Amino acid sequence: MKIRDAVLKLKLYQAGKPIEEVKRELGLDDIIKLASNENPLGCSPKVQEAIKNLSDKVNLYPDASNYELKKSIAQNLGVKIENVFCSTGSDSLIRTICSLFVDSNDETIMGDVSFQRYEDSTVLMGGKAVKIPMINNALDVKAMVNAINERTRIIWFCTPNNPTGTIITKDELYSILDLIPRDVIIVMDEAYYEYVTDENYPQTIPLLEKYENMIILRTFSKAYGLAGLRCGYGVANEEIARYINTVVGPFDTNLIAQKAAIAALEDKEFLSKVIDENSRGREYLYKEYKRLGLEYIESQANFIMVNTKKDDKEIFNELLKRGIIVRPGYLFGMNGWLRVSIGTMEQNERYIKELENILKK
Ligand SMILES: Cc1ncc(COP(=O)(O)O)c(C=O)c1O
Repeated sequence: MKIRDAVLKLKLYQAGKPIEEVKRELGLDDIIKLASNENPLGCSPKVQEAIKNLSDKVNLYPDASNYELKKSIAQNLGVKIENVFCSTGSDSLIRTICSLFVDSNDETIMGDVSFQRYEDSTVLMGGKAVKIPMINNALDVKAMVNAINERTRIIWFCTPNNPTGTIITKDELYSILDLIPRDVIIVMDEAYYEYVTDENYPQTIPLLEKYENMIILRTFSKAYGLAGLRCGYGVANEEIARYINTVVGPFDTNLIAQKAAIAALEDKEFLSKVIDENSRGREYLYKEYKRLGLEYIESQANFIMVNTKKDDKEIFNELLKRGIIVRPGYLFGMNGWLRVSIGTMEQNERYIKELENILKK
């Protein structure tokens, strides 16, 4: 057996601990997961209704062209259907984008720290991810652009950035776009787009016309609450979209996900409830962190990084014993920090109470 060298370099992605695993390992029943930036409100009742009616249809392959879903997305965003592509989560689209543009010894540029899957997908193609230090916990976009060289194929702008929750502002983005060579692909990963309330956040769809090297990624996993169904999408110029659609497997977006995503897009009321609840939770957690004297990074997403100034592995384990799953910062190279997703108010309160107890010990 000959495994490709690129694969040998890969490490297994460490996802948030699943609830069932914690139940099994610790014999606990009442568990809350604030580790994977999922939607604590579930999904729209309209999605649930749409899914119910599909149980007798799963013997059929889904529509390989994703026609209805692409049409809904295109209408929602005001773009042409030819600009849209979908797949099994935006995670799979990140891999697809790398398979389109990255060859052996090519480079991609990302923040240090940013979404790990950019590096994994680059390495899988035999390339190298160049990581640029952050500035005030945000992406240093100027330094990222300055790092472009003849080997650079992709620059990853994760905004809001996972795990810091910071955005690239309009001024920052507009000041660097023209400095990026047209043969370098700009990926705007906007997985947390819907949660953003900062007016300085740029709307990128109108930029696609001018920057034909830009790809925008979004997902149904976060604000729409469909993480378990695996459906992500993106928009780019027609040529890039066509190539992505060619490389993505014909049936990667499953039949249930397609219908559920269409129903999710139609339920604006649910989406606005999700955004309001998230903003409320964000303010509550800021207030509590201030009360506890803990440093935190202001976030435009559905998670917040908080500095416990203690051993984050230990705090993570203590919270786990109390039935609360979070993400320890050492995984991102941020020792002492925790990344905690914003839950329902009840979950947020329980988490703060337990965190306070642990820190007092
Ligand atoms: C920044 C970012 N991009 C992409 C993804 C992938 O999301 P999905 O594959 O569920 O669409 C995530 C998931 O956590 C993320 O944080």
